[in-house]
Amino acid sequence: MGPTLLAIESSCDETSAAVIRNGKVLNNIIATQSVHKNYGGVVPELASRAHQQNIVPVVSQALQEGDIDKSDLDAIAYTKGPGLLGALLVGGSFAKSMATGLGIPLIEVHHMQAHILAHFIDDPKPKFPFLCLTVSGGHTQIVLVKDYLNMEILGETLDDAVGEAFDKSAKLLGLPYPGGPLIDKYAKGGDPLKYPFPDSEIGDLNFSFSGIKTAFLYFLRDKLKENENFVLNNMNDICASLQHSLVQMLLKRLIKASEAHGINEIAIAGGVAANSGLRDALGKLANERNWHTFIPDFQYCTDNAGMIAMVGHYRYLNGSFADLDSSPEPRMKFQF
Ligand code: KG4
Ligand code: ZN
Repeated sequence: MGPTLLAIESSCDETSAAVIRNGKVLNNIIATQSVHKNYGGVVPELASRAHQQNIVPVVSQALQEGDIDKSDLDAIAYTKGPGLLGALLVGGSFAKSMATGLGIPLIEVHHMQAHILAHFIDDPKPKFPFLCLTVSGGHTQIVLVKDYLNMEILGETLDDAVGEAFDKSAKLLGLPYPGGPLIDKYAKGGDPLKYPFPDSEIGDLNFSFSGIKTAFLYFLRDKLKENENFVLNNMNDICASLQHSLVQMLLKRLIKASEAHGINEIAIAGGVAANSGLRDALGKLANERNWHTFIPDFQYCTDNAGMIAMVGHYRYLNGSFADLDSSPEPRMKFQF
């Protein structure tokens, strides 16, 4: 029998705990914080407080539903970074205290590596080597995944993450946070080619979203000058066009990476992987280019402890344990 681990995620605005036994995720308890809705983004101090309220019930539920006694645990895995310091500290301190109390090892997990290993929670699983487009509210990366714990970043954003581009644009449209899912929803009835927004060409496989964000701001400002009801009357077309432009920016680099590395095994991960425009476009590319594409189940796309548990499992097998003075790193580097 393989190890039984408890995993804890608290890097942003989801407090989550999961139990994994012998590489199989038994449950994935997530408490989503709705307190940020009216602020246009995650408020760090409110996130820390909500994590503090949620952490004990979420961990208890994960253990209870998994029918796991604390004494069954072989180690505790937690998100070390990247993320918000105050938020990471809640999960980190909890994990450290529990591991110390139980006399079991602590395992540090990189949040973005976890988004990638979310692909190994359920079937079908990608084969190594594969490319993973990791798209969330904090990151936008194309990663060459050589093995469970051996990964290389081929390209990443130099400024905002694509999730931020969705959320900040949504805020300009008067939508609550997180606006990404709402843009997705309104895009469904709209014309994706009505208002083209520019890609910022910066060479290589890197991304920049500050240009499109500014272009969107000026576009709205000009249109609203002409007609104050422009947004209200054209919500579907605006959202469809913005979403289409953002998705094309992502897929253009992904195609480039696939061609450069001769890899047709293609995965997407992170919160923006839930976007239906991205999913549909990826499906079309899979047909055209003979790609095998992989998208995790929705609950494993956005932040969750199931994915943290998966990394914890492989690091446990590797014997990669943390010292008990382990502490969160908000800007943790991708290091494997
Ligand atoms: O991975 P995640 O839950 O948290 C971070 O690590 O950032 O990703 C959250 C991001 C938010 O920016 C949210 O707007 C975006 O994922 N998102 C979406 C959709 N669902 C979530 N963006 C576009 N379309 C969606 N359907
Ligand atoms: Zn995330």
